[in-house]
This record gives sequence, C-alpha cells and structure tokens, in this order.
Amino acid sequence: MSTPVKKVPIHLQSAQNRLLIKNGKIVNEDDVLEQDVYIEDGIIKQLGRNLIIPGGTRVIDARGKLVIPGGIDPHTHFEFEFMGITSVDDFYQGTKAAIAGGTTMIIDFVSPKKGESLVDAYYTYREKADNKVCCDYGLHVIIPQWHDRVPQEMAALCSEHGVNSFKMFMAYSFMLTDSELYLAFENCKRLGAVAMVHAENGAIINKNTERLLAKGITGPEGHELSRSEEVEAEAVNRACMIANQVACPLYVVHVMSKSAGLALVQARERGCRVVGETLAAALACDGSQCKHPCFQHSAGHLLSPPLRSDPTTPQTLMTFLAQNDLQLTGSDNCTFNKTQKELGLSDFSKIPNGVNGVEDRMSVIWEKGVHAGIIDPCRFVAITSTIAAKVFNLYPRKGCIGIGSDADIVIWNPNQTRTISAKTHHHAVDFNIFEGMECHGVPEYVIVNGRVCVDEEQLKAVEGFGNFVETPVFPPFIYDIENAGKLKPSNNGILNDLIAEKLAKAEIEP
Ligand code: URP
Ligand code: ZN
Ligand code: ZN
Ligand code: ZN
Repeated sequence: MSTPVKKVPIHLQSAQNRLLIKNGKIVNEDDVLEQDVYIEDGIIKQLGRNLIIPGGTRVIDARGKLVIPGGIDPHTHFEFEFMGITSVDDFYQGTKAAIAGGTTMIIDFVSPKKGESLVDAYYTYREKADNKVCCDYGLHVIIPQWHDRVPQEMAALCSEHGVNSFKMFMAYSFMLTDSELYLAFENCKRLGAVAMVHAENGAIINKNTERLLAKGITGPEGHELSRSEEVEAEAVNRACMIANQVACPLYVVHVMSKSAGLALVQARERGCRVVGETLAAALACDGSQCKHPCFQHSAGHLLSPPLRSDPTTPQTLMTFLAQNDLQLTGSDNCTFNKTQKELGLSDFSKIPNGVNGVEDRMSVIWEKGVHAGIIDPCRFVAITSTIAAKVFNLYPRKGCIGIGSDADIVIWNPNQTRTISAKTHHHAVDFNIFEGMECHGVPEYVIVNGRVCVDEEQLKAVEGFGNFVETPVFPPFIYDIENAGKLKPSNNGILNDLIAEKLAKAEIEP
C-alpha cells in the first residue's frame, strides 16, 4: 500500500493503556450481556465477570448503564467545499463534536473537482484530516464527472488507498447521466466497492427552481417545493433499477421521505440488493422548520433532499429502521454559518445545503427510537454502529464489543437527560437544528481506541489521535449471496398503509 501510515506521537498515545469497565450491561446488535470489559493498548482483551487483570488498571463502574459500541457515522462533510464555500466544522472540530456525542468513527467524502484526479483529491483529504482527527476515520470518494480515467482511478483507490466506496450524484451540477451511473455501478461491482447514490432528479429540480423563482418564490420555503417527495422517490427507483441491471449492490444515502423509503422497499421486493441510510435530522425535524419567518432558522434547516412537510415522516422513517426497511443512520453533518446561509437571502437555490448532526445523532436516535418505544437498544446499536461497520467491511474490528475489537466504546446512561443547544454544542457552527430538544440517553464515557475521551461527561478529545482506517473491498454484508436474506423486505402493515395512502391522494405540487 502506498497510503501514508500515520504514526501517533508517543505523547498523544493513551495515557492509561489498561482499563476495566465493571458492572455494566454490554449491548451488541444481537445480544445483551452482563459482563465486564478489559481493555489493553486500545483493544478489547477480555470479557466476563471476575476477570483477572493487572494491578494499577483504571476501573470505571458502569452499574446501571449500558456499554455499547461507539457510534459510526458513515456520512459527514468536514471542510467540504460546496456551492462555492467551505463547511465550518473541520476535521478537528467535527470529530471532537462526534466524540462528545458518542461517535467514535466517521466516514467523510473526498470531493474532487471536475477533471481533478480522484487520487490527488484523496491525498488532499488525507492531508487535511490526518493530523486533525480526534477519532478514527475512513473516506468515500465522490465521482463528480465520468471520463475515461475514472475506472482506473477507482481501481487504484480500492487496491492501494483503502477506499471501498464511491458516491454518485443524480442532482447538482456534478450529477451523472443514467448511462454514466450504469458505468459507475458496473465498475463498483467489478471492484467489490460500495456504490452510494444521492437520489434526486436533478433535471426536474432545475426546471422547478426556474419556475418558482420566476413566480417570486425566493425564500427557503421554495426549496422543498422544487424537490418534492416524488422527485426523490423517482430517483431512488431509477438508481435501484440501474444498479440492478449490472447486479451491483446499492447504498442510498439520506433517504428523507416516506415515498423514497417506499421506493426502496419496493425495489427490494423486486430483488434489488439495496441498503438505505436516513439522517438524524430526518428522524427529529420536519419541513415546517423551513417555513419559519426567521431566515437563520429556516435556512439553517435546509438540506437536500429536504426535510419533509408531512409531519408523520420522522416517525415513519424510524419505523422503517425498526423493520429493517432502512438499515443505517448518518448525520450528513455539513455545517454553514449564518453569513454563509445568507448567500441565499434572495434566492433559495443559493442557500448552502447542509445541517449539523454528528454530535447529536446518537442522543436524537435514542430519544426518537428507544425512548419512544419504537426500537430496542440492540437495534439502536445496529443502526448507529454495527451495520455501518458491516457495510463498509470494518466488522468485527468496529461496530461490536468483542474480544479483539478496537476499544471504541460508549458508556451510555439511559436515565440521564440533556438539552441540545448551539450554546453548549461542540461544533464550529452557530446554529443547531435540534435546539431545545430534551434527550434521554447521555454518553457519560466515550472511549476511543482505548483512550477515555469523554470522562464523566467531560470532553478530553485529542487532536490527531485518530487514524485513517482502510476499508477493504467486497464487504460480505452486501456482496455475499448468503447475506441476501438479511436485506429481505419486511412485508409489514405500514407499507400497505403507505401504498393505500399514495393511491388515495395523487401527489400534486403547487
Ligand atoms: O444538503 C446536503 N445533504 N448537503 C451535503 C451534500 C450532500 O448531498 O450530501
Ligand atoms: Zn447527498
Ligand atoms: Zn429562529
Ligand atoms: Zn452528504
């Protein structure tokens, strides 16, 4: 491998290389165990009660608390150059915020410019991130344009640079055509890479935007009008169809609507191998926020695909997660300050798209999922950590509490509450879409590669402590035929209700 391997300076390595977590309840995706966890040099070495351990080991009492795998956020955009500006959470502040909320690994997106070599862009990201990240990280690579060199560069990224995933866009100025998507998916399949897609119909969005602006609809409320549920659902359906033509497994990022979720489920029923990710934002907020009279508030909630006006969307998406119709959750953390959002004061299409979420994702999902009684703690672990580890081929090193796994662990207090606010969050951004939300479930300790980085709720993140983690190709979770059953449709009542609802009302946009 020619990828530079970063050495962590000695003074940054774990001050306390031995740790025992006693009396807690370990929650993995498939099991709950009353066992202690012994950690040495960043690795889980023993599990059980009455363990024999060396003297001088630090002991943390986790009685009454859950010991869970650290969150893995498969979707962040730190220092992202987008719509002419750069997102304000960089790899330091972004990963620090992640740790504060119980996330111990993030996967960000390399964003090459059109015509730029994908490998050069990858190196630019490694340079930006390696000395800043407080926790481990991986990289997906965006393909902003299709040309003859792309297949070769994708192959090099997979074989030499530890990248196993590529994101293609169906909207924005860097959207690919259907035949380019076909080629991209075909190459992903050949390489054993994860094909990720931003599914919205870009051509229709552009036409709707022109029409709305001409009618004088220029404020943030125009955003969802220009990209309705069916604009998202059509693209999800088309992406699934194209991937299926070349038998490529597909990962649909940020599924934001009931219609898009339904399109995924129906594609799966036809035999498409597809996983769906939704966002903390979509599980806790709805589109009414974008109609708020205060511009900072409405523009602050603007991302793509948009938060949906249908107020039943957040709970339905959580139910999709409960039923394995959706499989994982990200934040899509892509934060812009008030002044940056104001670039779109007189034209909603110029408001930089993106919201926060990397810090609050775990708490928000606990609150809306477990505390609300829709999912159990095992499913919480699955959708916040384990399935991401499996999809990106990091399991069982990441995503579980097991002997030999990285000691990325959260001691979660389900009885404690906290109230989210921009005044207390650890982001660089001046706004928080979850402002005022009270969450049960607080990460009291967050252990990153064996180092206690949140200690009794005190954040002690260390700049540069994290490492780049290579993601190997051919993840069995999506490429092994034996696993196909795990992505089967759930055949549940909610789908029939949704189909009935769709049939009853034709979706006519204003
Ligand atoms: O609005 C969003 N989602 N901003 C980030 C870029 C993307 O499409 O993921
Ligand atoms: Zn996207
Ligand atoms: Zn406001
Ligand atoms: Zn994104």
